[in-house]
Amino acid sequence: MAAAQTTRTTGFLRTLLSRCPAPRPPGRHRGLSSLPPPPPGAWSSDVSRLPHRELYRLSIHNPDRFWGSAAVDRLRWVEPFHRVRDCDLSTGRISWFLGGKLNVSVNCLDVHVETHPDRVALIWERDEPGTEVKVTYRELLETTCRLANTLKSHGIQKGDRVAVYMPVSPLAVAAMLACARIGAVHTVVFAGFSSEALAGRIQDAQCKAVVTCNEGVRGGRVIPLKPTVDAAVRSCPTVQHVFVSQRTDNPTVMGDLDVPLEEVMTSQPPVCPPEAMDSEDLLFLLYTSGSTGKPKGVVHTQAGYLLYASLTHQYVFDYRDGDVFGCVADVGWITGHSYVVYGPLCNGATTVLFESTPVYPDPGRYWETVQRLRINQFYGAPTALRLLLKYDDGWVKKYDRSSLKTLGSVGEPINHEAWYWFHSVVGDGRCPLVDTWWQTETGGICIAPRPADEGAPIVPAMAMRPFFGIQPVLMGEKGERLSGNGVSGALCLSQPWPGMARTIYGDHQRFVEAYLKPFPGCYFTGDGAHRSEDGYYQITGRMDDVINVSGHRLGTAEIEDALDEHPAVPETAVIGIPHGIKGEVPFAFVVLKEEFDDDSLVILQQLRELVASKIAKYAVPDHFLVVKRLPKTRSGKIMRRILKNVAMETADDLGDVSTLDDPSVVKEIIEAYEQHRKQEDKP
Ligand code: WTA
Repeated sequence: MAAAQTTRTTGFLRTLLSRCPAPRPPGRHRGLSSLPPPPPGAWSSDVSRLPHRELYRLSIHNPDRFWGSAAVDRLRWVEPFHRVRDCDLSTGRISWFLGGKLNVSVNCLDVHVETHPDRVALIWERDEPGTEVKVTYRELLETTCRLANTLKSHGIQKGDRVAVYMPVSPLAVAAMLACARIGAVHTVVFAGFSSEALAGRIQDAQCKAVVTCNEGVRGGRVIPLKPTVDAAVRSCPTVQHVFVSQRTDNPTVMGDLDVPLEEVMTSQPPVCPPEAMDSEDLLFLLYTSGSTGKPKGVVHTQAGYLLYASLTHQYVFDYRDGDVFGCVADVGWITGHSYVVYGPLCNGATTVLFESTPVYPDPGRYWETVQRLRINQFYGAPTALRLLLKYDDGWVKKYDRSSLKTLGSVGEPINHEAWYWFHSVVGDGRCPLVDTWWQTETGGICIAPRPADEGAPIVPAMAMRPFFGIQPVLMGEKGERLSGNGVSGALCLSQPWPGMARTIYGDHQRFVEAYLKPFPGCYFTGDGAHRSEDGYYQITGRMDDVINVSGHRLGTAEIEDALDEHPAVPETAVIGIPHGIKGEVPFAFVVLKEEFDDDSLVILQQLRELVASKIAKYAVPDHFLVVKRLPKTRSGKIMRRILKNVAMETADDLGDVSTLDDPSVVKEIIEAYEQHRKQEDKP
């Protein structure tokens, strides 16, 4: 245990890590980490020194050379790949680094333990301010190996799926890396999801085990997690073990499936030979919302994902060796995967795990953390910035932020007010601020300004430039490619890149239909974009029925499916409307069966609870409006555009309503809305 580097340890780390034997010198035990590093390829010798513009050109015109040399030099391989890529975007055959074998955990841990074992890998910024825990690369490797051995000794093998239902913590990271070490496939489920949502994901992935905590701690509140897992696994016959970590000292009721994680780990050896994985073996699944009701298990594989996460982490944030990288995302989302765990660890960085909230114990939390941990890159979501800028700037200015070098924003469009506040107040106008556009499916950042590109300007609140290997194209309504600047259309990426999702777990057809069919030959992002007169990209928002609530993706169909389960509700339609802090919020139009008309208040409350229990609290619509019927076309399709106009009070300009089956429905809904507003305005 690196006592000198640890402000305070939890009971677990103290007991667990104090029992770790001294590290073995590299090479003494058998396994991938003992293999000699590959000979240097072309990347470090000439490619990486090229100016960004030339690197970009090379990545587009000669992707085999660009990615091939990057993969040779930046990753440690057990067996070299014999072909850089074999991709066909029309069928969804996407393979990178064919024939190569490697282990992701070796690349994130062992290679750094060889050169700087005592460098801090993780700083766990616990909810209680000033109680951070630092974990060195050596400690993280040992913890990962003990956890990997725990999984193995309970029958988890290469290819098995393991659900991780934990808030951000060193053990959550170790659980992910432990899966990677033994070749199991992790699926991290955001610990705010309900038991039904968790169960749905476990069932779809047919997970053999769940790793969880007894409780979470956030914003000074204790959140029970184990009971949620208990309820979920009751309907998940594939789950054989639930590994339970003790985040708090409160007693936990343990059942037949439950294994006390820390206790078992301490008796496991701190060394675990890494599995040699094929480049295209599954690394993880991450469930995300699409335009249909069922979340999809986005599949990422080993080498391509890791290479893309590490390269983007370095180039987008101008990460330099020794920097403290602070991404405040939760590990339950893709941002947590790529920029809390895999990208930074592959680059040997010190990465911050932020367990708290932006306003606990007060609105200065982020900046107090920056000062205390000397954070160099700060990467967060616009929703938190919009919340914080409402408070006095004194909450920022009282803390020393001189360590900051780059600021980043992710997950949703950043508005100008938030951008300028972040740049001028937080960054004192001296740190480049990068608006980064990407998706769960893209694996890593695809469009971002890249300030390390000497002299390249940054346009505020714009994602601007494609990353290496990314070729954006805009498509018009008829599926035609829009050429030139000053045009808007559907944002597609016309070349495959190593970090892209390979498929949807168990449903390749859905993958092809959702992403590859709409614009044949290209990956369709679901977003719209504008190409400015200067040739830069501005994301204009989703083109499908996906909304973004506080940076979290939600399918409106998912909420509708939950609402429709209520026996009094024959039909609903959910849309997203703008919200000052959350970005967007769901607005539900609900049709009630006539006999329930008088009970609408009770039913609406039941509907709120239904959504919270079927999905998560953040998915509960902020607004409900009971209507007699929904606006439909003659073919029975709901015209959501009209609902949006009503909810945003722009119903004066409804556009073309001639396809409506019965146009009088519009007047009816407007009246219901006005009535509802009057009720709301009553004191
Ligand atoms: C949206 C999050 C505007 C977009 C990494 C995308 C953004 C969806 C930005 C993916 C941005 C993400 N500007 N919109 N900088 N970044 N989005 O899968 O609609 O949770 O399709 O991945 O978030 O959300 P996801």
